[in-house]
Amino acid sequence: MSEEKTVCIVGVAGFIGSHLLEKIIRERTWNVLGCDMVSPLKIQQLLGAEKKWAGRFSFTQMDIVKEPAKLKELIKQSDVVINLAAICNPSEYIKQPVNTINSNFTDAQDCINFCVEHDKHLIHFSTCEIYGRPLSSYGLPADEPKNYLLDEETTPMIMGPVSAQRWCYACAKQLVERLIYAHGTENNLKFTIVRPYNWIGPRMDYIPGVDGKDDGQPRVLASFMTALMKEEPLVLVNGGEVFRTFCAVEDAIDAVMKMVENPEKSQGHAFNVGNPDNNIKVADLAELMINMYSEITGKPKGTTRTVSGVEYYGPGYEDSDLRIPSMRLIQQQLGWTPPTSLKSAMEATMKVFIEKYADKVADLKRGQA
Ligand code: NAD
Ligand code: UGA
Repeated sequence: MSEEKTVCIVGVAGFIGSHLLEKIIRERTWNVLGCDMVSPLKIQQLLGAEKKWAGRFSFTQMDIVKEPAKLKELIKQSDVVINLAAICNPSEYIKQPVNTINSNFTDAQDCINFCVEHDKHLIHFSTCEIYGRPLSSYGLPADEPKNYLLDEETTPMIMGPVSAQRWCYACAKQLVERLIYAHGTENNLKFTIVRPYNWIGPRMDYIPGVDGKDDGQPRVLASFMTALMKEEPLVLVNGGEVFRTFCAVEDAIDAVMKMVENPEKSQGHAFNVGNPDNNIKVADLAELMINMYSEITGKPKGTTRTVSGVEYYGPGYEDSDLRIPSMRLIQQQLGWTPPTSLKSAMEATMKVFIEKYADKVADLKRGQA
């Protein structure tokens, strides 16, 4: 199980990278070569010469686009390469669609090519968004599982028109999946593709004005936490009528560990990694978080307000209405089932956000008053 190996994590200082690194470094004896273009704030707790794993982890701050030779060197020294680097925030898909496409497709190619050249196992992070909208949202009967359950090997992928720029991210991820698959057939690339479904946990995104751009729009968890801590209404985009299945990041990281440790079962596949039991309407998520925040802090309950998608994100915003992962393949190949309920994942995550940010947000509010 704990066979020695060297893992290269590209995008190690992001949300998922920080959790993956922590798991590997604390619970395995592997070496990790991590790189990211941002400073390593989210992995600061793991850095330092005094840490017992210090000799097993190195961090290189670099943009993989600008320093391909360095990336190649890291990949050459590794057994497994996990590529997390990407623009993956819906507010960016509309504001900077060219960068979004390049980041998710063009910039992923060096990593793929170096893995082909040096015969490394590539674990590439894609997204559940590659399915687009389920068939049920195009009028097919909503009570038939084949019209809403997203299965890796049978579900067609249907996205909106080109002018709906929301889909540029999903489309770029889908094309990079197809490129990886093609390298698998033509050049024997050993690959595994991960399709996350709204993983949540501490260190996800940022709080605008505290550790991110003042006018930033993080993903829903951090957006709702920002509103709660600032005592402002939570924004429900288009009324919060759509659904998401949320998965606790620690459960999801266990799935990735199984992919690394069981290459014979994970290679050649794309896996849904989500929790179908944690499906919730966004408006109900807001209510859950409002109630939980009030219980944790003793403060009065917050409120919500509705804003249109175009107003909130800009023209070209469309949304997935429902995305429920089929667990068939991942259970069959890796025996993985996520145990954590939405309530328990959310409570633990909210407590960490409050501990980390509540005072800073209060200072920010006082400064603005
Ligand atoms: P994140 O933004 O927190 O992490 C991505 C990291 O990649 C960042 O630290 C960023 O600085 C780095 N990066 C981006 N471009 C880079 C470059 N050119 N050179 C070096 N580093 C670069 O995002 P995350 O939530 O951790 O997501 C990681 C991956 O998983 C992404 O590919 C994303 O599309 C995918 N994904 C995540 C989720 C989720 O639930 N969080 C869902 C679907 C897909
Ligand atoms: C995200 C991103 O595309 C990727 O990170 C990833 O591929 C994927 O989800 C995933 O995590 O699986 P999305 O779920 O739309 O897409 O991102 P969020 O910003 O978390 O939004 C979830 C829902 O909440 C959307 O319907 C959005 O409109 C809504 N929302 C978001 C609000 O109602 N209010 C907000 O303040 C923010």
